[in-house]
Amino acid sequence: MAKPKYTSHVGMVDILPDESPKWRALENIIHQEAAKFNFEEIRTPIMEQTELIVRGIGQLTDIVSKEIFAFKKGDSHYVLRPELTAPVVRSYVEHHLDQRGGSQKLYYIGPMFRAEKPQKGRQRQFHQFGVEVIGSDDPVADVETIAFMIRIYQRIGIQNFELKLNSVGDPESREAYKDALREYLKPNLTKMSEVSQKRFEKNPMRILDSKEPEDQEYIKEAPVIQDYLNEESAEHFAKVTAYLDDLGINYTLDPYLVRGMDYYTRTAFELTSPDLGSQDALAGGGRYDLLVEEVGGQPTPAVGFAAGMERLLIACEELDIKLAEDKSVDVYFVTLGDAARTFALSHLPKIREAGISATMDYMSRSMKAQMKDANRENANYTIIIGDNELNEGKFTLRNMKESEENSLTFKEIIAKLG
Ligand code: HAM
Repeated sequence: MAKPKYTSHVGMVDILPDESPKWRALENIIHQEAAKFNFEEIRTPIMEQTELIVRGIGQLTDIVSKEIFAFKKGDSHYVLRPELTAPVVRSYVEHHLDQRGGSQKLYYIGPMFRAEKPQKGRQRQFHQFGVEVIGSDDPVADVETIAFMIRIYQRIGIQNFELKLNSVGDPESREAYKDALREYLKPNLTKMSEVSQKRFEKNPMRILDSKEPEDQEYIKEAPVIQDYLNEESAEHFAKVTAYLDDLGINYTLDPYLVRGMDYYTRTAFELTSPDLGSQDALAGGGRYDLLVEEVGGQPTPAVGFAAGMERLLIACEELDIKLAEDKSVDVYFVTLGDAARTFALSHLPKIREAGISATMDYMSRSMKAQMKDANRENANYTIIIGDNELNEGKFTLRNMKESEENSLTFKEIIAKLG
């Protein structure tokens, strides 16, 4: 086939009609489970102010320094949202959602944009679902967030995952840990990667997340944050793990788990799957107790996670999990002649009104071609209409699966199928 003149951008993928049913099925599961958790949906714009994202996620992060799609129009700096935590917090502050009372338990589903090198499980436009619980520092909020995340995979039948858990501490603990980390890394700093050298002063913890080969031997032996948590952070983390134990949620403690954004404090976690290959993170999240204040609100603790939907669907494929039924339509009108076509067209609304999905030929094809099309559309029934049927007021209802036929009035057909 000739190469089309226009194609979608690299890493930006069309969800075609054969794919959309499983997306809808997944979205339905997320909405249903969110309702069970009493989470409320929030939808924010696709574009945000660049300054919000830079501030929220952190200047030195990969996302901000390399991956954002940003442009200027007039005096405004726009960015395609690379994630939704900072935008949801922006919305929370802008619309004073704290005034609704209690903690805000918000969830979302939508597209995100990061200019990463595309590969399996990594796109430039991808989709996340996630939760942001804003206004609580109770470990219950951390654990409910994690429980919701896991519930989605469990409901779908994805069991084979690992929950990695860490505490990245509160500011006081982090300062103590950063000092210890700098002291440990300093003697070998010149042998480490350029990015790590850059991160050394401002954010040495991000060095622990380095994938550069030359950094690995130093990271391996680095001090662990658990030894530097102050009493409050340690206690909070102990409660999170105790509640997870109570719920029977398995986890692995990973003292070097730091996440890709600067806003995290205390609890941090990631869900990985061996069914995904190199892009093995299904989901990730944690606490961000300073972000609300950072973007102009009152000091407000918060916790959340986001999950990659493409990666979830890849895992389903690997595990042969089918989220949606094959497409089908209840009824296909097969017509012979103009009068029959007119009858079919005028009776489509009536049959649909009865809750039955129905279609007809849009291409004036022969009866044989219409029957073939009904099979292609996976119609459960055909209603065959010609002049005789119109005269008699009785139509042939053919059960396509059982190859069985009945002659019925239109009313009888609706009663039988409705
Ligand atoms: P994140 O770890 O950057 O966290 O992204 C969450 C998930 O989104 C990843 O685990 C992965 O499944 C998916 N993902 C990320 N980038 C891509 C990509 N380029 N292509 C396909 N999937 C991708 C966040 O976004 C935080 N906002 C999570 C959070 C919410 N933390 C607190 N609240």
